[in-house]
Amino acid sequence: MSARTSLASWKYLQAHAKQMKQQHMRTLFSDNDNRFNEFSLKLPAFLFDYSKNLITADTMQGLFGLARDCELEQWREKMFAGERINTTEDRSVLHVALRDRTTKAFTLDGENLSDKVNQALTQIKSFTDKVRTGQWKGYSGKRITDVVNIGVGGSNLGPQMVTEALKHYSDQSVSVHYVSNVDGTQIADVLRPLDPEKTLFIISSKTFTTTETMTNAQTAMKWLVTSAFDQNAVAKHFVAVSANKENASAFGIEQQNIFDMWDWVGGRFSLWSAIGLPIAIDLGFDKFIELLEGAHEMDQHFKNAPLEQNAPVIMALLSLWNCTFLGSQSQAILPYDQPLHKLTAYLQQAEMESNGKSVNWQGEDVDYPTVPSIWGEIGINGQHAFYQYLHQSNNVVPADFIGSVQSVTPVQGHHDTLMANFFAQTEALMGGVDEQQVREDLKAKGRTAEYIDKVAPHKVHKGNRPTNTILLDQISPKSLGSLIALYEHKIFSQGILLQICSFDQWGVELGKGLANKIQQELSGEESAQIHDSSTTELIKYYKSIKAKK
Ligand code: F6P
Repeated sequence: MSARTSLASWKYLQAHAKQMKQQHMRTLFSDNDNRFNEFSLKLPAFLFDYSKNLITADTMQGLFGLARDCELEQWREKMFAGERINTTEDRSVLHVALRDRTTKAFTLDGENLSDKVNQALTQIKSFTDKVRTGQWKGYSGKRITDVVNIGVGGSNLGPQMVTEALKHYSDQSVSVHYVSNVDGTQIADVLRPLDPEKTLFIISSKTFTTTETMTNAQTAMKWLVTSAFDQNAVAKHFVAVSANKENASAFGIEQQNIFDMWDWVGGRFSLWSAIGLPIAIDLGFDKFIELLEGAHEMDQHFKNAPLEQNAPVIMALLSLWNCTFLGSQSQAILPYDQPLHKLTAYLQQAEMESNGKSVNWQGEDVDYPTVPSIWGEIGINGQHAFYQYLHQSNNVVPADFIGSVQSVTPVQGHHDTLMANFFAQTEALMGGVDEQQVREDLKAKGRTAEYIDKVAPHKVHKGNRPTNTILLDQISPKSLGSLIALYEHKIFSQGILLQICSFDQWGVELGKGLANKIQQELSGEESAQIHDSSTTELIKYYKSIKAKK
């Protein structure tokens, strides 16, 4: 039995889950007028309502007890203190230092990290201002009009998601584009309308070894040099963000054009560092700082609020409750605010790359279900695609509904329609409609008894499907910063509760290594590699058809 499952609080929750499976949220609501007040929190950036979960006060007490037994508070302190909690890579986890602008707040191995962070911010400000005001010139003396960020995973998802979410706040003085895919179609499409004389590339890669990013960067460099007829043009059109300065400069990027990154910042938690350069260029430095301030506000909440009023902790506990104890295997992220259309993709990496693992800190297989798969889509589009499944399939998918009181782009008559759906969906998922009600409704519509018998079972919605509601006042750099940090700390807390090393990503290495070897085979080199028969035949087929083209 693992350390977690032998805890008394764990056993209590297992037994309690059996009882709770017999309950319906409809009854929990009708029995308790105060349920919303009991199970919701108002934070500066948003209202967090978790009352539509299959929980009671006993459930929450049991979950907070488990959090304490798992020493969540102590682990939280270790993270903020810079202990090397990323044990498999022997690294600290200090993305929180990136948004704490008070000096001397963080030290690591005797070094003042806050000074480093502030220096990096000064460099970001100076560069951003130059590009945005046109002071930074391309090789032919023209100002930069377009910035292309080349990076993948954490070096793409966060910055791109934020750029999309905060489009409304951009003055469009420079257009920012993203290339992440090694599929040449993407870079070709992005570069086609651009003018090399006015285009600046940011090569974003913590390791500066990622094949996809290096391939795209090479293509971009060829594109530029072909136009400039001069390798020296690179200095005016390429900057890099990396923890691997050697590789970045070996690639041809000038030392002064390399922005620092550090091993105590994980790729998927790095948008607050110079990886966020495209955000700062798009919005201006001051708004980038507001984003950091919003995240810092959430850091303070996570650090200081008691577990019982701590939004990220509660979200982590509910995920554990819904998945590990009640048996859900996936979780939907459903933003009802168009600017957040890339949030689900961002959270897929944040949560699944962090906690999609099955061994504990000691490297032993865990004997309990861990985290769900994350999926979703902008709410309204989802309603007309997969909500049927959310309402009536026999898999219960807990969902986070994220919306805003005010749209950043108000168009008369639209926002209330959107939000009516937002509220209706969580109500319907919670309450459902039973057969008796369905029959009464059909009867009231004058349907025949025969028709009612035939159709009624199909119209039953069992309900009892858990949702969280996060209601922002409005999307802004600050509220978005808080929202992202909320999920970051949820993910950290989940990892502690489940005893999972949240800050490594060994699971992406195996495929990467194999791809490198197979690439040599595809380019014609003989390989001693022996594949399974399926892979061998697929490669053979690919090469034979390619040879005929
Ligand atoms: O997908 C694996 C991964 O290592 C991610 O963790 C990371 O965000 C991404 O690749 C990109 O890595 P890099 O910034 O080093 O190019």
